[in-house]
Amino acid sequence: MAWTSSPIPLLYLIWIGFLFSSGDVAASGRCIEKERKALLSIRTGISDAHEWLSSWKGKDCCSWAGVECNAATGHVIKLDLHNPGGPSSNKSKVNPSLLELKHLSYLDLRWNYFDGAPVPGFIGSLTELESLNLSSAGFGGTIPHQLGNLSNLLSLELSENTISGGIPESLGSLSELVSLGLALNSINGEIPATLGDLRSLQIMDLSSNNISGEMPGTIGKLRNLELLDLSSNKIQGVIPESIGNLSKLWALRLPNNKIGGAMPASLGNLSALQTLDLSNNQISEQIPDSLGNLFRLESLSMNGNNIGGAIPSSMGNLCNLSSLDAYGNRIRGQLSGFIEGMSRCRTSGIRYLDLQNNEISGPIPNEIGKLQSLTRLSLGSNSLSGPIPASLGNLFALSDLNLSSNSLVGALSEANFANLTYLDSLDLSHNSLTVNDTQDWLPPFQATQIRMRSCNLGPKFPPWLQNQTKLSVLDLSSNGISDTFPDWFWNLCLSDLNLNVSYNYMKGGLSSSIECFWTVIVDLSHNNLEGFIPRMDPMLTFLDLSDNLFSGPIPPAMAAGTDYLAFMLLSNNRLNGTIPSSFCEANHLEVLNLANNGFSGALPDCWNDSLALKIIDVSGNKVSGGIPKTLGLLPQLKSLHLNDNGLSGRIPSSLQHCKDLVTINLGQNRLSGAIPRWIGEKLSSLKVLRLRSNMFTGAIPPQLSLVASLQVLDLARNNLSGALPPAFGNFSSMISIQNETKPVLGEEGTYYTENIVVDAKGLKLYFTTVLSLVTSVDLSGNNLSGEIPEELTKLHGLHFLNLSDNRFSGDMPQNIGAIGQLESLDLSKNKLSGRIPSSISALNFLSHLNLSYNNFSGRIPSGSQLRTFTDPSIYAGNPQLCGPPLSDKCPDDAPSEIPTEASQEEDVDEDENGIIWVFIGFAPAFVLGFWGFIGTVMIDRRRRIRYIQFLDMICNWFTHR
Ligand SMILES: *[C@@H]1O[C@H](CO)[C@@H](O)[C@H](O)[C@H]1NC(C)=O
Ligand SMILES: *[C@@H]1O[C@H](CO)[C@@H](O)[C@H](O)[C@H]1NC(C)=O
Ligand SMILES: *[C@@H]1O[C@H](CO)[C@@H](O)[C@H](O)[C@H]1NC(C)=O
Ligand SMILES: *[C@@H]1O[C@H](CO)[C@@H](O)[C@H](O)[C@H]1NC(C)=O
Repeated sequence: MAWTSSPIPLLYLIWIGFLFSSGDVAASGRCIEKERKALLSIRTGISDAHEWLSSWKGKDCCSWAGVECNAATGHVIKLDLHNPGGPSSNKSKVNPSLLELKHLSYLDLRWNYFDGAPVPGFIGSLTELESLNLSSAGFGGTIPHQLGNLSNLLSLELSENTISGGIPESLGSLSELVSLGLALNSINGEIPATLGDLRSLQIMDLSSNNISGEMPGTIGKLRNLELLDLSSNKIQGVIPESIGNLSKLWALRLPNNKIGGAMPASLGNLSALQTLDLSNNQISEQIPDSLGNLFRLESLSMNGNNIGGAIPSSMGNLCNLSSLDAYGNRIRGQLSGFIEGMSRCRTSGIRYLDLQNNEISGPIPNEIGKLQSLTRLSLGSNSLSGPIPASLGNLFALSDLNLSSNSLVGALSEANFANLTYLDSLDLSHNSLTVNDTQDWLPPFQATQIRMRSCNLGPKFPPWLQNQTKLSVLDLSSNGISDTFPDWFWNLCLSDLNLNVSYNYMKGGLSSSIECFWTVIVDLSHNNLEGFIPRMDPMLTFLDLSDNLFSGPIPPAMAAGTDYLAFMLLSNNRLNGTIPSSFCEANHLEVLNLANNGFSGALPDCWNDSLALKIIDVSGNKVSGGIPKTLGLLPQLKSLHLNDNGLSGRIPSSLQHCKDLVTINLGQNRLSGAIPRWIGEKLSSLKVLRLRSNMFTGAIPPQLSLVASLQVLDLARNNLSGALPPAFGNFSSMISIQNETKPVLGEEGTYYTENIVVDAKGLKLYFTTVLSLVTSVDLSGNNLSGEIPEELTKLHGLHFLNLSDNRFSGDMPQNIGAIGQLESLDLSKNKLSGRIPSSISALNFLSHLNLSYNNFSGRIPSGSQLRTFTDPSIYAGNPQLCGPPLSDKCPDDAPSEIPTEASQEEDVDEDENGIIWVFIGFAPAFVLGFWGFIGTVMIDRRRRIRYIQFLDMICNWFTHR
């Protein structure tokens, strides 16, 4: 075997070839001297020619390799200079002496490298040329229009160069041309209508260029065309009706363009068609019935369009079809007509049927069991209903079965899989199936991928997996399994495994021998697993054990030993000990989430600039000591959550180098010192700054307002003093109204949802998905003094403002009503005075207001939204205030009704509305649909936060659809 693959025999064959083709014809001595000299000049331009043109010696040029002369006249008629070594990168040149070979009918320069030089226009003078092959030869420039003079040309091959510019109209004069190959260049412009004049053309390949415009209607004149390939261009418009005239066409390839409109019914006239590829365009409307006339059709691809309607029953006649790919359209209706038709074919050879991501409804027809050649059946993400027909078990050739995300019901029985010996990939996720839990059944197949997410497999861990020793993907998430991992599972020692058993009730520990698994992805989150975290395979890239009962320390070797680890998610467990400094060596780690465990001691201070960490969440632990200075060396850090710990000391100035920081949450620690100015000057991407409940002192730096992206500023419960800087009216992201739910983080946020708790409305509102909509300023519980700057009213997009429990004095900003999005306003416990400005009643979204314990005076404004605030306590401690809802009458008042018990009840309503206003303020269109649901649920104080989470969850669901 070895010798056949060495190059020597190949060259030998080629040499033999030349022996027959040239030696035979040209008698020695006939070579024309002028042409011999021309050949030698041509040779000087060809790189490496001395090696493979070594035979070019002596007088008899007709016997030289690659040269063929006319036996009668001695003129060189064929010149084959294709580089026998394959594509080369040594630069060559086309010598103009080529023009001396006036009788050339065959020229092949393939696989030389002409270094971006244009195809010489003078080739157009070689009018006897029949075959010109310049493919894969490094030509650039544009196609010379002179080629249109080659009236004898049968084959023009220019593919795989870097030719740009348009296709010259003159090519339409090549009336003998049989084959035109311009693929894999950078040709642009439209297809000239003149190409319709190529009456002899059989093959036209313009694929992989930048050709734009519509397909010219004249294409229908190419009556001899057998292959038309326009794939991967920028062709738009509709497919011309005239295409139906191409009665000899057997392959039509138009994928990866921008073709729109409906498929013309005339496609059904292409009676010779075997391959039709329309994938990845913008084709709409329904499949024309006439497609059922394409009796020879073997392969039909129309995936990635907007095709609607049902699959016409007529397509059931396509008995030669072996592949149908209609993935990702809007095909509706039922499958029965088509499948029943196919099942009647004497020999139905369909092997590949992909209708995934459509809107097909109805049952899977029982007749599917007759399509016994099927190797791939992909019907996922449709609206199929009813049971999985037992006949499916007959499809003994099936290797890939995907019925996920439908509304299939009933029990999966052994019969469903009885004969599926070759099944390799099985996806039944997201259906309402049940599995008949017979202990002794083992499937006949050895699959590499089993996805049965949300399939109701519990409560036992599926025993039938025992013999699956080849698995590399196993997804059993959300199945209600409440079992321990069986011993046999760990003994499978699967390799390259991507394991997802998340969202079950798995209990017990992980085997210490999990190391024998070669895992790449392990997601066991949201279970009741306990015990120590075992050491895992060093190839691991994704580990999610969050929301379990794991305890003990992180094995120190694990962080360092996992060279590929990118995501480590261990939040919400009972882990303790110190955070191992070996994380500083995990070069690929991007997300480290250790939130809500019992970690103590100091944070590692060995971080360096070669690390890829983007998200660090250590919130809710017991770590102490200072914030490590070396965190500032992490060049990609975007999100830092160290809140709810026992950290002390100052914010290290090194953090100013983390310019990509989006979130800083250091709340609930014992941090001190001043709030650094550089936060405003350097961290221009910051959206969330939460320093709440620490011991920060000094004034608020006005520079904070330079952060144009800041949306959540929480400095509450510190010892800050001085005035509120008027520059705070300049927060751009609070001036504009945020109305787009978009992820706060980039791709890394796929495995970590950015989250923040905002204290507002007397509640703790937990925001995740809708965080991008939240705007909040909370400076409560400090020693801030002076007036509240009027400039604050420029923040038209602000939702929550809390300045309570400070020493602010003077009037409330007169134009407070300009903060039009305000839902919660708390100015209580200050020394504010004067009248409450009447503009406050313009705050239509306001649902929480607290002005108590100030020195406001005069009549409480009424009207609009303000009328709904009937709880007098929100005005308490302002002895000079009067009017409803207070019982103190204003001096000029006539006696009015005192609020009664009834208004107490209304108060509850108002609070409920408060929550609902949160929804409305954030996502009006979406909420209207849910209003009915939310409106009917009793909300008590403990439940409110859940409703925000509920909203969050719904939005999450919305954005992931
Ligand atoms: C499996 O194949 C055998 C032989 O082809 C056939 O007799 C049997 O009915 C098939 N079983 C099912 C469940 O389709
Ligand atoms: C489950 O399997 C048993 C034994 O094979 C059978 O008797 C029973 O009918 C099956 N149940 C369902 C729901 O298919
Ligand atoms: C399944 O595995 C067991 C051992 O776990 C073995 O005895 C049995 O032969 C296997 N069966 C099949 C069908 O592979
Ligand atoms: C960690 O927790 C375990 C109990 O789960 C306890 O025995 C151990 O002392 C703790 N270790 C540390 C360092 O707190």
